[in-house]
Amino acid sequence: MNKSGFFLLLGVFVSSFVSAQFSQQYRDSINRLSYEDHKLMMEKLGISELRPGPSGNPEAPNAAISDEAKVQPYFLPNPLVFNNGTKVITREQWEKRRAEIFELFDREIYGRLPESIPGVKWEIVSENDTMDGDFPVKIKQLKGVVDNSSYPEIDVEIDLTLGIPPESGEAVPVIMEFGFNWPAGFGRIQNDDELTWKQQLLQKGWGYAVLVPVSVQADNGAGLRQGIIGLVNKGKPRNVDDWGALRAWAWGASRAIDYFETDKEVDETRVGIEGLSRYGKAALVAMAYEPRIAIGFIGSSGAGGAKILHRVFGEQVENLASSAEYHWFAGNSIKYAGPLTQEDLPVDAHHLVALCAPRPVFISSGSAAVEGQWVDAKGMFLGGAMAGPVYELLGKRSMRTMLFPPQETLVDGDVAFRQHEGGHTNKPNWPWFIEFAERYFEK
Ligand code: GCU
Repeated sequence: MNKSGFFLLLGVFVSSFVSAQFSQQYRDSINRLSYEDHKLMMEKLGISELRPGPSGNPEAPNAAISDEAKVQPYFLPNPLVFNNGTKVITREQWEKRRAEIFELFDREIYGRLPESIPGVKWEIVSENDTMDGDFPVKIKQLKGVVDNSSYPEIDVEIDLTLGIPPESGEAVPVIMEFGFNWPAGFGRIQNDDELTWKQQLLQKGWGYAVLVPVSVQADNGAGLRQGIIGLVNKGKPRNVDDWGALRAWAWGASRAIDYFETDKEVDETRVGIEGLSRYGKAALVAMAYEPRIAIGFIGSSGAGGAKILHRVFGEQVENLASSAEYHWFAGNSIKYAGPLTQEDLPVDAHHLVALCAPRPVFISSGSAAVEGQWVDAKGMFLGGAMAGPVYELLGKRSMRTMLFPPQETLVDGDVAFRQHEGGHTNKPNWPWFIEFAERYFEK
């Protein structure tokens, strides 16, 4: 190696060492600030100690339950019974019960939307006609600027990308992902026959959108005094029933739909939402609360998403209540990791899916052998299956089974479930979801 080559290599080595150190320091400070905010919330709740959650590492001594035989029986609250014990028989009664369920989720789990949230002004940052693989696409890069005149110390700019097939001549359906803003074509895997989700949508003549959740609200407790939550609270800590990140991200999706309503190229009556993991939780919360979302693709959403929390298997309420995850929820949800338990939850995932009814929901999971058991595929299936009676009451089709299906078997209905062969990804289920959505979106 010559001298300049040596120095180049040394430079690369030193800078990657420095940046690793820096990002470690950054992570440490995020963790410390999250821990402090979490502690403050515990004080507000009058809680001094929490039960620790099980470990996601199957080898750990305190590993989460991953053996079906170890699941204890549990009693689930019924979405079709009012808080006072009377049964919901009619659709009119369901509307009233629905309001009760929203109140329970607001107060106990996801938090309330503030009474007044500043407006958002959408700007088109750029517009490009380009190709995504073999597919022409018009990409609009958008920015949703939140009015911060009430507290100018905090800026919030929502990052949204819209990709539309340019020659369609009519307004098209759009599936919006909570995700990351990768460039066109990114994510295409080696095998040339496999299209990315964006390409699959363009091929159908549909559009896609990507909303970057962390442009609305940071994905940690340290950021709760910033972002849209911090802006509304003028930089102060949250109250016990204030909204968490999931509702803030969902609010961002609603603002994106406001924009779609102004864009002639988008059919705002055919907008779907999709996400994976924490963004799968966000997609389900967004759909439950936003009636303009016509269809949902809820990927590996696990605890706090489509998974039944009363079921002690995989991730637990104690994990959600920790300083690493509480920011997704209202502070009040921490109570369920001490003094309360999951048995005290007045609502569970099937209530959340029921709030989406009668609109179609596709619940997706990976293979337990590849993805692991943390997300609890069966728990997510049950979240959809147990919402069935509400779908049926509204004249729609439930899964019509409570039996967990074999892998790669679609359990069909207006609420559907499929466990694919892959890992922690939605990719293998995209063709299945698109076929499901066709039933509702093709005129
Ligand atoms: C962790 C967390 C999950 C979450 C996941 C993710 O595993 O426990 O609840 O869904 O991260 O978002 O990747």
